[in-house]
Amino acid sequence: MTRIRILSEDVANRIAAGEVVERPASVVKELLENALDAGARSVRVEVEGGGRQLIRVTDDGCGMSHDDALLAFERHATSKLRSADDLMAIATLGFRGEALPSIASVSRLLLETRSAEEEQGTRVEIAGGKLIGVKPAAHPTGTTVSIGDLFYCVPARRKFLKSDTTELGHIASVVTHYALAHPGKRIELRTPSQEILSASPVETLAERVYQVFGRQALDELIDVPATSGPIRANITEAQLEAGDEKLAMTVSGYISRPEVQRPNRNAIYIFINRRLVRDRLLLHALTEAYRNVQPPGVFPAALLFLDLPPEEVDVNVHPSKIEVRFRHQQFVHDFTRDALRQALSRARPIAAFPAAAAAAPSASSGAALDAGSQAADPSATGGVAPPAPFYGLGAASRSFGTGSAVPPSDEFSLSNAPWRPEALRFGFPAEGPAPAGDEFGAQFRAAVHKDEYDPPPSAANGDQISNLKPLGQVNASYIVAVNSAGLWIVDQHVAHERVLFEQHLQARRAGSVAGQRLLVPLVVELSPRQLVIAEQIAEELSANGFEVSPMGARAVAIQAAPAPVSAPDVERLLREILDAVERENQAISIETLQAKIAASTACHAAIKVNTPLDPPRMEWLLGELAKTECPMSCPHGRPVVLRYSVREIEKAFKRT
Ligand SMILES: Nc1ncnc2c1ncn2[C@@H]1O[C@H](COP(=O)(O)OP(=O)(O)OP(=O)(O)O)[C@@H](O)[C@H]1O
Ligand SMILES: [Mg+2]
Repeated sequence: MTRIRILSEDVANRIAAGEVVERPASVVKELLENALDAGARSVRVEVEGGGRQLIRVTDDGCGMSHDDALLAFERHATSKLRSADDLMAIATLGFRGEALPSIASVSRLLLETRSAEEEQGTRVEIAGGKLIGVKPAAHPTGTTVSIGDLFYCVPARRKFLKSDTTELGHIASVVTHYALAHPGKRIELRTPSQEILSASPVETLAERVYQVFGRQALDELIDVPATSGPIRANITEAQLEAGDEKLAMTVSGYISRPEVQRPNRNAIYIFINRRLVRDRLLLHALTEAYRNVQPPGVFPAALLFLDLPPEEVDVNVHPSKIEVRFRHQQFVHDFTRDALRQALSRARPIAAFPAAAAAAPSASSGAALDAGSQAADPSATGGVAPPAPFYGLGAASRSFGTGSAVPPSDEFSLSNAPWRPEALRFGFPAEGPAPAGDEFGAQFRAAVHKDEYDPPPSAANGDQISNLKPLGQVNASYIVAVNSAGLWIVDQHVAHERVLFEQHLQARRAGSVAGQRLLVPLVVELSPRQLVIAEQIAEELSANGFEVSPMGARAVAIQAAPAPVSAPDVERLLREILDAVERENQAISIETLQAKIAASTACHAAIKVNTPLDPPRMEWLLGELAKTECPMSCPHGRPVVLRYSVREIEKAFKRT
C-alpha cells in the first residue's frame, strides 16, 4: 500500500485557489481587474464583514453571454489569450483564466451578467466549486459578482484571516490604487455603514489624487510630467517621431518632495501598464533619482506609472501577477531614473517651515504602512497616532508656521486608518462638502467646473530662490533672507556644501579636478582592508586631486588633496571616502563613487556653522546656491533652505 495518493481534482482546485485567493483583498483585486478588462466605466465594490461575509463587485462593462457565463468557471478558460504567442504581449490585467474558478471553489458565488447582444441576462450560482443553478435573470449590460462566505469550505484559510478592520484595510488599499490608476473611471467602495471611497470620473491624475488624498498630498508631491523615450538603445529619434508606439515608453506620475522622508518603501506605488506591481529594478531607479537629494536610509513616496508596449513586459512570472520582467531592463531603469531626476531638479522643491518641522525621519509617523493595510500603532507615539497627510507620508503638522496649536489636518491616511469614512468622504465634485476644512477645495472645484484646472502649486516653485537679499545671520550659522516669495532661512554650511558639491562633480565630469600640494606630506595609517580599497580607487582619487602613495606596509602618504580642503581636514576626508566605499562592500559604481568623493570634499571644504559672514559673502553664497541644480537639499539629503511663503505669513496673521 502506498502512502502517496494523487489528489482529486477538487482538492487540486483548492490548492491552486490558495495561491490566487489568499484573503478577501485578493478576491477584490481579481474582480476589479476583470471589470476593468471588460471595459467598465464604473465599478462599485461592496463589502460586509471585512469581505468574509460578502464581496460584491458591479460593473458596467461588456458583460457575458449565457454560454460565456458558464465557461468562465472552467479552469484556464479565458477570453484574453488565444495562443502561446499572446503570452508574449499581454495587454489585459487577466490572462490565466484562473481567477473565477479559484474564487468559486472557496466561496458561495453568484454571477449575474448580460452582454449587450443578449436581451436576457444570466444568473449562475456556485458553492464550493459546485454548480448549484443557472437561470435567466434581468440585469443591465455588465456584470455583478457576489461572493458570500469566503473560505467557508476551507477552514484553515479562514483561520488565517485577520480582523474585519484589517481585511477591510487591505481591500481599501487595493481599490484605492486601482482608482489612482484609472482617473477616468468611477470607482466606489462601500460597506453597509460607510462610503469608503467614491471617486467620480476626472480627467487628470492630479484631480484623482486630490479626490483620494486631499490637497495636502498634492502639496507634498512633485509632478512627473509624462516623459517619453525609446524603449531600447538602437532606436532613432526619427523612428520615434514617426509615432510608432511599439518603440516608446512613458514615465509619469508623482513623487514626493525630498523633505518627505519615509522610514520604509511602503508609500511607493509602481504601476506598469496600469497594473500595480512590486519591482526591484524600478525601486532602485527611484532611489538613484533621489541620491544626493535625500539621506540614505529614508525613502520617498511615489505614484509612478510606466507605460510601455506589452511585448516589452513579461507579466507571467508570478502567480498573483505582482512581479514583472522587462525585456530591456537596463534601459527601463536608466530612463525612469533620469525622468525622475529631471522632475526633481525642475521642481526645485523648497521646504516650507512647517514641512521642515516634519522632515526629520524620526518625526515622520514611523507607522508601518504596508500598502495601507495596517492600523497605526498608537503606542509608538505615546498614545496618539500622528495623522499623516498622504498615505502616511510624514506626520506633517501645519501648526509650526502659525506658532499656535492649530490641529493638524485630518486627511486620508492609509497608515492610520485607510478606511475611515470621515477621512475618505471626498465631497467631490460639487455636491459634497469641501475636504477637511480648506478653501482650496472650493477653488479647486470651481476651477474644475470651469475646465480651468491647473495642477496645484507643487511644481510651481521654479526659481523662487533667486534674488535673495540677506538680512543677517542667526547664531552665526543661518542666513536670514527675503525675496518676493517670502522669508527664508538658509543653513550656510549645507548651502555651501551643495554649491561645492555640484562644482566639484561638474569639474570631475569635465576632466580632472585640480589638487593642491601639501607643504609636508601627510602620513596616514590604514587598516589592511582600507589599504586595498585605496589601491582599488587610486585612479579615481587622483582624478579628484589626490596624490596618494603607499608608505610601508600599513600607511599611505598624501602629497596633494582636492584644492578647497584645508590641510587639517585632508586625513579625515580620505578616511571618510574609504569608509564609504567599505560600507558599500566595494560593489560601487563609478558614478556613486564620484558622487561620494564630491560630497565628502564639499562637506570638508564648506563654510562651517558658527562663522560670522559679512553681507557680500552672504549675498555671494545665496547667489551661488540659486545657480545650483538642486538648491533644496545638501548632498547628504538634509534641507538647505526653509521658506515661509508670503501666503503662509498672511495666513498666520489671519489676513486671508
Ligand atoms: N466582469 C466581467 N465582465 C465581462 N467578462 C468577464 C468578467 N469577469 C470575467 N469575465 C470573463 O470570464 C473570463 C474568466 O475570468 P477569470 O478572471 O477567471 O480569468 P481571466 O481574467 O481571463 O484571467 P486571470 O485568471 O488572470 O484573471 C474572462 O476571460 C472574461 O472573458
Ligand atoms: Mg481575471
